[in-house]
Amino acid sequence: MTLTAPDASARRDDQRGLTEAEVAEAQAAFDAIIEADQRIEPRDWMPDAYRKTLIRQISQHAHSEIIGMQPEGNWISRAPSLKRKAILMAKVQDEAGHGLYLYSAAQTLGISRDEMTEQLIESRARYSSIFNYPTPTWADMGAIGWLVDGAAICNQVPLCRASYGPYGRAMVRICKEESFHQRQGFEILLELSNGTEAQHRMAQEAVNRWYWPSLMMFGPPDDESPNSAQSMAWKIKRFTNDELRQRFVGMLVPQVEVLGLTLPDPNLRWNEQRGEWDMSEIDWTEFNEVLAGRGPANAQRIQHRRDAHESGAWVREAAAAYAQKQAARERRAA
Ligand SMILES: [Fe+2]
Ligand SMILES: [Fe+2]
Repeated sequence: MTLTAPDASARRDDQRGLTEAEVAEAQAAFDAIIEADQRIEPRDWMPDAYRKTLIRQISQHAHSEIIGMQPEGNWISRAPSLKRKAILMAKVQDEAGHGLYLYSAAQTLGISRDEMTEQLIESRARYSSIFNYPTPTWADMGAIGWLVDGAAICNQVPLCRASYGPYGRAMVRICKEESFHQRQGFEILLELSNGTEAQHRMAQEAVNRWYWPSLMMFGPPDDESPNSAQSMAWKIKRFTNDELRQRFVGMLVPQVEVLGLTLPDPNLRWNEQRGEWDMSEIDWTEFNEVLAGRGPANAQRIQHRRDAHESGAWVREAAAAYAQKQAARERRAA
């Protein structure tokens, strides 16, 4: 017995049953909605490629939120004070919520939660590579909040205007919570940076560890990102990978000064002529290794998720049995 939310497979079949003339008409209506910057809703006709792109993007995003709980979950039991523990627990819990909003948004496109979970635990789906790095010190909690949640905000604020309604609306709430996450990370680093010499060093080392992987979160450079143009034409994406990366670096530079720390790139400087940040070449071989599943913690992350899924089977079965009982009772009453 599995729990599945209502899916849109019926709508998908309807869509296949259309005549050529009807498809052309539906495509024109779709194009007009995109052109007018309005929203596509689950009930609307949409091109198959648009649906597939969204399913892939939203489910990957959901998986990232769920797997992203692990590197920080590692520190809940070892947080340095009760206050820090409470904050970190709230943050990790928010990430679970983000995963759930996003799975729900993806379900409106005709994929079930079970399918998505299976794809993840069988390593057929991707999630953000950043969560395959280990978190050896408490300062990593600061660096993750400041850099990883910070990069997530840069990526996600424009997604609040994504053309697919359920995705855009989920992002509004997620972004509000992400800004709290970023501030809590900044505050952890600020306190460590102004602490003892060893604490300051710990903060700097964590920033050094997470800086490059956080820049990689924006994806490959524009000239190697073939799907970007189509996503921008569909108004799912609003800015290119490199534009967002530039914006992120511009946000970090004044903040790292307040922190009294440095970014680990000797070539980072503002280029007046080009109106953008010059920076060192990103090591994409590392990115590709991690993406291919050979990062420091890939196997461990998936194994952990699989174990959690298996040990939660009885909860899903009990919930499904209860729902069935309730439905039968309602039928009898009717
Ligand atoms: Fe999140
Ligand atoms: Fe977050």
